[in-house]
Amino acid sequence: MRLVLIGAPAAGKGTQARKLVEYYKLAYISTGDMLREEVSRGTELGKEVKNIMASGGLVSDELIIAIVKERIKQDDCKNGFILDGFPRTTTQAEKLEEMVKVDKAIYINAPDNVMLERLTARETCPKCGTSYNKISLPPKIEGICDACGEGLTQRKDDTLEAGKARLATFHEQSEPLVEYYQKKGILFEVDGLKGVEEISKSIIAELGEQA
Ligand code: AP5
Repeated sequence: MRLVLIGAPAAGKGTQARKLVEYYKLAYISTGDMLREEVSRGTELGKEVKNIMASGGLVSDELIIAIVKERIKQDDCKNGFILDGFPRTTTQAEKLEEMVKVDKAIYINAPDNVMLERLTARETCPKCGTSYNKISLPPKIEGICDACGEGLTQRKDDTLEAGKARLATFHEQSEPLVEYYQKKGILFEVDGLKGVEEISKSIIAELGEQA
């Protein structure tokens, strides 16, 4: 099964992707995580994308397509994968289609005001990537990851200013993908305001028990 997850910043793509990956035993590919890793390692690529990411823009199609093309060739992707945050433009979607057949595009739909509230309250584990929320999904011990015990951090682009810019970028460049996949007959839309468990149950009901 090859899935793509579409949604505004903080819609819950990463949260749902992690659940689906575990359930279906698929490879997890988050282009945002991959880019953040490059930034934190201070690589040439990281230096190139750091300011773009912090300001809420998109890195170039050319660059991200090359990264994904290499990633999906790896062994763990043979039995299927979930792409979280890719494609983000119609050009990226068209290129992905040249590489593989996408089985389903899952669109997590939620309003901007709630997304802004969510992203400014998000805390992430820098070690295992688990995402928490000070308001809706707090860790058991404040500031500490339930899964691995690491101290939680806030992303540089989770400020109100960068959040607004990311939402504008989403509406302008990524929202057309909803229609793109609708026309292909493979779009499944879920209400991002529902609870985390309810959303994952509805996605699994749509996809079926087996990957
Ligand atoms: P990326 O990391 O992909 O960021 P994003 O799309 O803005 O998405 P987020 O990670 O912010 O949110 P999410 O939807 O995963 O939500 P989460 O599950 O964490 O990309 C970062 C940057 O990298 C981009 O801005 C761009 O610069 C660059 N980039 C990446 N891919 C690119 C591409 N293809 N092309 C070009 N540039 C690219 O949840 C959010 C919060 O809400 C958490 O606190 C969570 O606990 C909580 N939450 C989740 N679900 C629920 C729920 N149902 N109810 C209540 N709270 C919930």
